Amino acid sequence: MLHDSQQRYGLITRFFHWFMAVLVIQQFFKFADYINDGEHWLGDTFGPYHTSIGALIMLLTIARLLWTRKQKPQRPKTPGLIGTIARSSHRIMYFCLLVMPPLGVLYIYGKGYPVKLFGMTMLDKPAGETQWMITIGDMHAVLALVLVGLVLAHFAGALFHHFIRRDDTLKRMV
Ligand code: HEM
Ligand code: HEM
Repeated sequence: MLHDSQQRYGLITRFFHWFMAVLVIQQFFKFADYINDGEHWLGDTFGPYHTSIGALIMLLTIARLLWTRKQKPQRPKTPGLIGTIARSSHRIMYFCLLVMPPLGVLYIYGKGYPVKLFGMTMLDKPAGETQWMITIGDMHAVLALVLVGLVLAHFAGALFHHFIRRDDTLKRMV
């Protein structure tokens, strides 16, 4: 029940998947900062938690990847081109979830702000701006677009399996 099998993802994989899906989707509300000069209730409500939840996502991703390594042999395998595309997109999603948090930290610190996580100051306010940190940190916004594109394709893929192919792909993750 806890472990994955050929027929179903186990409880721990499903917990990681859906808990992190909720956390990742609410991180996307940061896009609302583009609306109305940053004055939007979505950005205002979720914005203050963006950095801490981002850091939590990174820790959960590391734990999830360790778990995935153990479960890989008994997981259901999707053969063919669709399987290869799905596996590659999962890998790129994991890459984004691991790399976006440090890029976010670089961006904030490079802009001359202190870095606070879970209410604690991790890095004190620097003396000023650091251009190279901002340049690298800008990749955070680029990867945000890559990730949102992949999540939308992933969601569409799950619906395609369920409603058009009518197979068990979605059921084994629910
Ligand atoms: C995997 C976790 C994370 C996800 C999915 C994520 C997602 C996003 C998204 C969708 C945006 C809006 C992009 C845009 O403005 O074009 C954004 C912006 C931002 N994020 Fe994150 N974020 C994550 C983690 C973090 C962390 C840990 C920090 C800082 C410690 C951070 C700091 C920022 C900052 C400062 C911005 C606004 C500046 C910018 O546009 O680059 N993020 N993030
Ligand atoms: C929007 C709602 C979502 C739905 C309906 C959904 C559905 C699914 C389904 C059905 C699978 C199993 C695929 C298979 O067995 O081949 C899966 C796997 C996966 N999903 Fe999602 N998903 C969603 C959101 C997300 C989000 C937001 C992320 C992360 C950014 C994500 C990351 C993954 C990963 C990495 C896998 C591979 C299995 C694993 O490593 O745990 N999903 N998803």
